[in-house]
Amino acid sequence: MNSKFLKKATLALTSLAMLSSLAACATTSRGGDSAATNLQKGDLIGISMPTKADQRWNVDGANLVRELEDAGFKTKLAYANNSPSQQSTDINNLVSAGAKAVVVASVDGTAVGPAVKQAKDGGATVIAYDRLIMNTDAVDYYVTFDLERTGILEAQTIIKRLDLENGGGKDTPYNIALFAGSDDDNNAPYFFKGAWDLLKPYFESGQLVDPSGIVTKDFKNEDWKKISVHAWDQSQAQKQMDAIMTKLGDKPLAAVLSPYDAISLGVMKSIKNARPDMTPTIPFDSKNPTNKSAWPIITGQDGMDIAITNIHFGAQEQTVFKDISKLSKQTTDLIESISKGETLKSDNEPMNNGNKDVPTWLMQSDELVKNPTGDQKGLDYVVETGFITEDQYQKDIKAPIIE
Ligand code: BGC
Repeated sequence: MNSKFLKKATLALTSLAMLSSLAACATTSRGGDSAATNLQKGDLIGISMPTKADQRWNVDGANLVRELEDAGFKTKLAYANNSPSQQSTDINNLVSAGAKAVVVASVDGTAVGPAVKQAKDGGATVIAYDRLIMNTDAVDYYVTFDLERTGILEAQTIIKRLDLENGGGKDTPYNIALFAGSDDDNNAPYFFKGAWDLLKPYFESGQLVDPSGIVTKDFKNEDWKKISVHAWDQSQAQKQMDAIMTKLGDKPLAAVLSPYDAISLGVMKSIKNARPDMTPTIPFDSKNPTNKSAWPIITGQDGMDIAITNIHFGAQEQTVFKDISKLSKQTTDLIESISKGETLKSDNEPMNNGNKDVPTWLMQSDELVKNPTGDQKGLDYVVETGFITEDQYQKDIKAPIIE
């Protein structure tokens, strides 16, 4: 073998080796092309949750800690007391403590941008959990539920219970009060869109009317902030409902579209004060729509203890329940595969956060009612999915309603 040939052969081999290592890089690229590459099994994962005041985020936090630790990671969990600035501090602290990934359920999806940008610049992978982080490139992945489905399930129940498809409200329009979620939460417009696409035709036909006059047949999905409840706050919802009840006067109320169980509770407290004649033992009946004492069909979301109680005793019609154990499992799978250098693919479309298309995983929610039919689930589904204990469930169905 002459030395020229040897040189050529070595060169060819070297370029082959370079090419194959490039190819290896390509196959291990992290699906979202922007994720950090230094996450390993055993690393610290930071978890930033919005508030302890809502039942679900406590379970979300505990689930994530358990799942991630079972999978061999360390965890640090912080709650932001619903304060955007506290959440930024939390995220900075998690990264300073060495977090190689941060899982963030944001208080304010836009305000949290600079903090996750800093985390990302420091080499951490950023996962938006349940709520999308908006207007930044610094979010790698998003895990959530099918957001419009919440509103769809709520509206479908209202349509059915009010018999709208068979002309309910044609003679005398049915009064309905409508609420949307928090103005700083990107989930809220999706919930509203899901519901409004289905309810709008009944405003157009004149079967439904909002006594406050805010929602009319010309209301658009983009107008949702006019009926939003800042921070999903129960007492804020109660105040907004007080204003609607004043406008309603002594007329019957057929339904309330509420996107969240605590908002539903604020609504019920307001009804109880303004119209003590209305009683949950007489649910609104489209066969007797002029009965002023009838209690409206009220929706909700999250399967909170209070909702289980209220549905059990007839004060609330349904709650859209998210089996959040699915969300923590998906998040853990995602983090595990990143740590193994695997390519991640989702069957769902990415969601745009104003800056980029974020690879997104969508879970399915369920509707809980007292007497389930079809795909609906019974109230004890909250126990079956591990959201609450059997003991707690037994307490829920014995507790007094709307205190
Ligand atoms: C979540 C809901 C929750 C609401 C209030 C939303 O972002 O998706 O599940 O009911 O926040 O906490």
